[in-house]
Amino acid sequence: MSVRVLMISGSLRAGSYNSALLRLLPSLAPASFAMDTAPSFAEFPFYDADEHQRAGTPEAVLALAEAIRRSDGVVIVSPEYNWTIPGALKNAFDWLSRVENQPLKGKAVALQSASAGPLGGARMQYHMRMMLTFLEANLVATPEIFVGLAPSKFSEDRSQLLDGTLRTMIEAQLRKLEDVIRMTNWANAPDNHAISG
Ligand code: FNR
Repeated sequence: MSVRVLMISGSLRAGSYNSALLRLLPSLAPASFAMDTAPSFAEFPFYDADEHQRAGTPEAVLALAEAIRRSDGVVIVSPEYNWTIPGALKNAFDWLSRVENQPLKGKAVALQSASAGPLGGARMQYHMRMMLTFLEANLVATPEIFVGLAPSKFSEDRSQLLDGTLRTMIEAQLRKLEDVIRMTNWANAPDNHAISG
């Protein structure tokens, strides 16, 4: 049975290494994956609770929330800015955390990052893990995917990831995501409650 996986890039710029990595994921994913790129969060206003109450939730936020709800799992591929989550992406999650039927609750999520620095965005990922734990996502634990020194890991046109070990690790992580999705779907099926009463 096929599984729907949504891909979110944390970078807004056209030449992004993270978006280049995201575009390669379908070629590294299990055959069962149907992968789509998430609707953009680039136009989300800064979250302001007063404005939210006054004007409601913007259409663009509802579109991303619904795309996440409709997916079985999510892969977030993001740069690290100043050792943490890029502001635009964090703002997107602040919005998502405030919509009804919070879409990340119980959702299988895998994290990846590419950065110019040698740690490959590790600090950002641990902040992201903290945030997504609060949002009750089901995070893939390992393998972790850090593409450090990113300019040296891609072909010049960014259409290929040159590091074979990294490609193998990404394949393994996406298989793990499939396992987490299948476990989550099994646990949520009405007849499969391990604890009842
Ligand atoms: C960076 N960069 C960066 N890199 C890193 O490894 N750790 C960091 O804390 C930061 N901080 C940071 C802040 C800001 C505001 C910018 C613009 C950049 C460098 C970053 O890894 C590099 O620009 C990547 O190419 C960004 O990812 P994309 O846009 O190529 O996907």
